[in-house]
Amino acid sequence: MRISIIGAGKVGGAIAYTLMIGGIQEIVLVDIDRDRACGEAQDLREGIPVLPFFPKIYAGDFSKISSSHIVIITAGEKRRPSDSRLDLLRNNARIMKQVIEKVVEYNRSCIIFIVSNPVDVLTYLALNQSGFSERRVFGLGTFLDTIRFKSALSEEVEVNPSELHALIIGEHGDSMVPVWSQTRIFGIPLCEYKRLDKAKMDEILKKTRNAGAEAILKKGGACFSVALAVSEVIWSIVLDRKKIIPVTSLLNGYYGISDVCLSVPTLIGKEGAEELIKIPLSREEKEGLRYSGSILKEKIGQLELNG
Ligand code: 2OP
Repeated sequence: MRISIIGAGKVGGAIAYTLMIGGIQEIVLVDIDRDRACGEAQDLREGIPVLPFFPKIYAGDFSKISSSHIVIITAGEKRRPSDSRLDLLRNNARIMKQVIEKVVEYNRSCIIFIVSNPVDVLTYLALNQSGFSERRVFGLGTFLDTIRFKSALSEEVEVNPSELHALIIGEHGDSMVPVWSQTRIFGIPLCEYKRLDKAKMDEILKKTRNAGAEAILKKGGACFSVALAVSEVIWSIVLDRKKIIPVTSLLNGYYGISDVCLSVPTLIGKEGAEELIKIPLSREEKEGLRYSGSILKEKIGQLELNG
């Protein structure tokens, strides 16, 4: 299994490390800064002697992605703590167009997985520009927010996060939607397990929503949580695990929302984003999802798309 990572910065490097120690056999790192890609690849390779397997990790140009099953794109500028992810759109849309042009030139059969921000709009752009099926172009979306939400909730209810069923959908951004109505602890509705007052629920959501900006303020940006979330999606593809994960992909009528990419529960298998799973939502959650869609559609309108 060969995977290419376009963008060998902190996030790309952390993704490469996480996939390498998880057992991906071949990883290609591509970056406009060739030295950075080579340096990351060398650093990773030098750790191989202590691994129980022998992966191939190397830097290359776009011609080396030709036989990759999955191409992960992290390329793009990072935001400042005061910026929203949507503030990155102009520059990162230009970068994404250049990257997709190269990906399609060398590999027309891969799955494209977007991590760059604003991930929802850039996923829409990548889908539009690649001409690939919507199953094969999707992005990390609110899965990152979901694991942050679970982490914050777990601390509050003092239960292992693996026992929590909790979900964030919509925009990977300020309009993200917590699906409180479906939050369970070992199958028990949250409100029956431990009643949280509105102030506490708002506090948990605020911590989730601000986690990205907090990481930027304190350490220049998140990378390990991002890499772990990406790894979970990648292994669901590689091993055809059919996990249901909230990733951002094109909606066609999901709760009446179409022609926009945002995150809803999605069956992830060897074909990619294989099926969008329609879950029950409260009226407020449906409204929140539709609001996310309207925010993102307005930003999509600012893209100069092909055709
Ligand atoms: C985050 O929320 C990078 O968007 C990513 O940390």
